Amino acid sequence: MLELKDVRLAFGKNVVLDDINLKFKQGEIVGLVAPNGTGKSTLINVILHNLTPQKGFVEYEGTRYQSQKDTIKLHQQICSFPEQSDLFPFMTGRDHLNLYADLWHNSAKPVDQIIADLQMKSYVDRKVQTYSLGMKQRLCFAMVVAADSPVMLLDEVMNGLDPQNVALISQILLKLKEEKKLIIMASHLLSNLQQYADRVLFMGKGHIIEDLDNKKQKKRYLKMQSSPEATQLLSDYHYETLPNNLLLVPLAEITPDKLTQLLANLVQVDIQYSVERIDIEDLFNKFYN
Ligand SMILES: Nc1ncnc2c1ncn2[C@@H]1O[C@H](COP(=O)(O)OP(=O)(O)OP(=O)(O)O)[C@@H](O)[C@H]1O
Ligand SMILES: [Mg+2]
Repeated sequence: MLELKDVRLAFGKNVVLDDINLKFKQGEIVGLVAPNGTGKSTLINVILHNLTPQKGFVEYEGTRYQSQKDTIKLHQQICSFPEQSDLFPFMTGRDHLNLYADLWHNSAKPVDQIIADLQMKSYVDRKVQTYSLGMKQRLCFAMVVAADSPVMLLDEVMNGLDPQNVALISQILLKLKEEKKLIIMASHLLSNLQQYADRVLFMGKGHIIEDLDNKKQKKRYLKMQSSPEATQLLSDYHYETLPNNLLLVPLAEITPDKLTQLLANLVQVDIQYSVERIDIEDLFNKFYN
């Protein structure tokens, strides 16, 4: 288990992580969600020990970053998604994969299998300097897969990927989850996270403002665009207005009779509505208006 205990990290007066307490289990995909500049990367860098918190600690399976020996031990278990700028332009993709597999030497997974899974065969033996943005991004992800560490930290892994590659990587993330990896990923692709994240942490002002169990999101809402007609029809109901002008009416609070009446009224004045679960994008709009 990975744990953050009372972690505080400030850059000067800018308190980015304010007494953060979190526990993560193996076999869990956790999404980190927040607007730009909130602290997602900072949190990941604290877990990696690239940044040392002013207070609190990170612990994995009983080990903390206390001595150099501990740090080496922890870095054997925790691998992060490399920055594209850390790639070596004159080395091939395959060289990078072998390097990560050797450095971590956790892996029973042959590099060829990873290349096939990530559909990199056509370019992996070329030098990295000839790669497009998306090719480099897939290589960076493949390097984490090659490290095969129990904890994988993925900061913006989907950046610059076309929809097919987003789908490909999402599929591999699910396989890694089955292998009991703990995957923590900062992402702005909210609908993508919605599909497979077990848990979504919304960050704000140094805190975790919501720790969402994505699999248990069962509550359903009546959703519609805000308009004078809609708000008038809803005047007797409890509803929320999101900053993107979406109205959300929790269905659990309406009796069947009242619901039938409300839907009939909506149809009559030609207001389009849908019945859905609240999604991560709705929550994003709710928390960060
Ligand atoms: N090395 C640094 N020195 C000073 N301030 C920093 C440093 N790194 C990050 N910050 C500040 O910490 C805050 C959080 O930054 P962070 O990079 O963690 O945000 P983020 O949530 O990852 O944003 P994004 O979605 O843009 O990647 C920002 O206010 C940023 O300016
Ligand atoms: Mg970031």
